[in-house]
Amino acid sequence: EIEMVTCSAPVNIAVIKYWGKSCEKKNIPLNSSISLTLNQDHLKATTTVATSKGFESDKVWLNGVKQDVVNNARLQACLNEIRSWARKQAARRKADAKELLKISQKIHIASQNNFPTAAGLASSAAGYAALVFALGQLFSIEGDLTRIARRGSGSACRSMDGGFVEWIAGTDEDDSIAKQFVPEMHWPELRVFIIVVSKKKKDIGSTGGMKNSVETSSLLQYRVSDVVPHRLTAVKTAILEHDFSAFAEICMKESNQLHAVCQDTYPPLLYMNDTSKEIVKLVHKYNDFYGSTRLAYTFDAGPNAFLFTLDPFANEVATILNETFGFNSGDKFFRGLSVKANEPLPYECGTLEKSVEYVICTNPGKGPKVVMDE
Ligand code: ADP
Ligand code: DP6
Repeated sequence: EIEMVTCSAPVNIAVIKYWGKSCEKKNIPLNSSISLTLNQDHLKATTTVATSKGFESDKVWLNGVKQDVVNNARLQACLNEIRSWARKQAARRKADAKELLKISQKIHIASQNNFPTAAGLASSAAGYAALVFALGQLFSIEGDLTRIARRGSGSACRSMDGGFVEWIAGTDEDDSIAKQFVPEMHWPELRVFIIVVSKKKKDIGSTGGMKNSVETSSLLQYRVSDVVPHRLTAVKTAILEHDFSAFAEICMKESNQLHAVCQDTYPPLLYMNDTSKEIVKLVHKYNDFYGSTRLAYTFDAGPNAFLFTLDPFANEVATILNETFGFNSGDKFFRGLSVKANEPLPYECGTLEKSVEYVICTNPGKGPKVVMDE
């Protein structure tokens, strides 16, 4: 007899960035961070977890490919934590022998991302959120699972809920948790354009990159003590007041500082490429033309751009992106929410030599969910 459950989880994009750990083993960050959870209709990880008396070992398939489980410390940490919580909770409610047997059985996990894996689109965040949420369902676990998702990947704890989510740094295992700040309905006009500059796997992952930054960047220490605390407060006010231009400015400055810290790391971490830099210029040119902030960029540990705008500007932004990067792309250049990329533009935006892969248009979304059988 096999028991199984399938769940899906979203990706999130950080506005206040997480970069640097105070404890590597437990994945405790140096500073709190805030992100927006994106709509699962466009980007999601879907994970099935199953357990049976007949399973001989824990097994994982990612996008159909069998993974090494034994040497994956993050995965082991998640599985161990889940089993230990399940055992404690079963004991507390005086569970029967059948339930205890279930917890001792091996688990098979199969996960699929509906977008490129390990390309800087936060597949690890969606993946570990889906895994931990699904295991929580399988064992009917109660309590805050963000602490367990955090062990898989720090940013994954912020994919455990919808809307804007804050990961409170905390000081130890139990108080480093993520909490929803406002739900996705709070700011429904927000739009996010993800410009997939490259689908390639990045050379230096976030984990290794931030470790080097902690060891070598003096700018990172200043950022953690003197910059992030103010920005956290300011961005929360901007979000609560729907103040897009204040939100956008913090968002861009945060991205710029993350990449300044990366540049300050020795040897430097160069995640943004020439196309990324052209996107930065394009955004400022657009905002300067209107003399107000309609568009903001943010970049994680990779060249892909995440642009924030508001619904009334989405078609104009799409037109600019199409004119600048879409010249020799196929008809599936825009994915996700439908946009009209043929607005008359008030200024000449020019065409760039460099093309990009494609653009996903999405919006704020909900947290993980159980996927019902079709
Ligand atoms: P990304 O920027 O896409 O998060 P990373 O290199 O940081 O890229 O993380 C990719 C890793 O995350 C994968 O090699 C895998 O270990 C893990 N991962 C990605 N998707 C999933 C998933 N759906 N389920 C479990 N783990 C996943
Ligand atoms: C630049 O969460 O991928 O995207 O905890 O080592 O798995 P680990 O790192 P990860 O780092 C994300 C870094 C970032 C900024 C952010 O998402 O806050």
